[in-house]
Amino acid sequence: MNTVRFTLNRPKALNALSSPLFRELNDALTRFEEDKGTGAIVITGSEKAFAAGADIKEMAPLTFSDAYTNNFIAPWSYLTTLRTPIIAAVSGYALGGGCELALMCDMIYCTSSATFGQPEIRLGIIPGAGGSQRLTAAVGKSKAMELILTGHNFSGKEAGDWGVAAQVFDGSHDDCLNGALETATKIAGFSRVAVTAAKEVVNKSQDLSLREGVEFERRVFHGLFGSKDQKIGMNAFAKKEKAQWTNE
Ligand code: CAA
Repeated sequence: MNTVRFTLNRPKALNALSSPLFRELNDALTRFEEDKGTGAIVITGSEKAFAAGADIKEMAPLTFSDAYTNNFIAPWSYLTTLRTPIIAAVSGYALGGGCELALMCDMIYCTSSATFGQPEIRLGIIPGAGGSQRLTAAVGKSKAMELILTGHNFSGKEAGDWGVAAQVFDGSHDDCLNGALETATKIAGFSRVAVTAAKEVVNKSQDLSLREGVEFERRVFHGLFGSKDQKIGMNAFAKKEKAQWTNE
């Protein structure tokens, strides 16, 4: 299975997330999600910016009725409905919607010097793409409240220390991107059925009680005994061979 890389590329606006950018990203994501050959996706930006937030110039003239009737920003969360694992490789600014986009991905790899934050309070608004929920789930209520109420940024190093990022790289953007691509390639090398199930059960832990989550996990675990790849994986182990996955 292939690994696909998406690079946000609006350098003049530090990859500010505009509606056209998201339409393009969502169309591309759909194409690769539907391609049975895609095993994992990496979303990245540049050395200077993963994304400096929602496009403030696009938002400035919006009225309540524009935002409400068009369900402004709702299409951003399309990414969270995909079954393919997605890694965010973050260098530079990941502010506001940029931080939220990274948090929507399945895991974050970042440089230690990356700058995360939810600065919306400074613009007279609040996070609108899930930041108040996902950041709180990642760092706990007290720290999330401090970050969102003050608009203070936090570093990539802190993101690692607080469990927001899965891996932190002291080197350059390329080191971080290569680390993310390496992990994506590893994931893409496993059975698609098992990978899809693993992503689904971990995500369910965010929505269900522990008892419901454990029961859900067990049902999905039982279901995997109906897959060809469970037999292939276990027989390969017994024969000390490398499993040749069928993704069935
Ligand atoms: N929207 C639109 N344009 C942006 C932008 C944004 N979020 N962030 C940066 N830009 C533009 C700047 O306007 C500037 O354009 P011009 O050259 O045409 O003036 C260009 O990108 C370069 O930016 P700066 O000159 O400001 O670069 P800097 O290095 O001095 O500062 C920065 C970098 C600290 C990231 C600063 O650009 C900044 O504070 N940006 C805004 C960050 C922000 O508030 N993000 C949250 C947005 S609200 C949101 O995201 C809501 C939500 O929950 C979805």
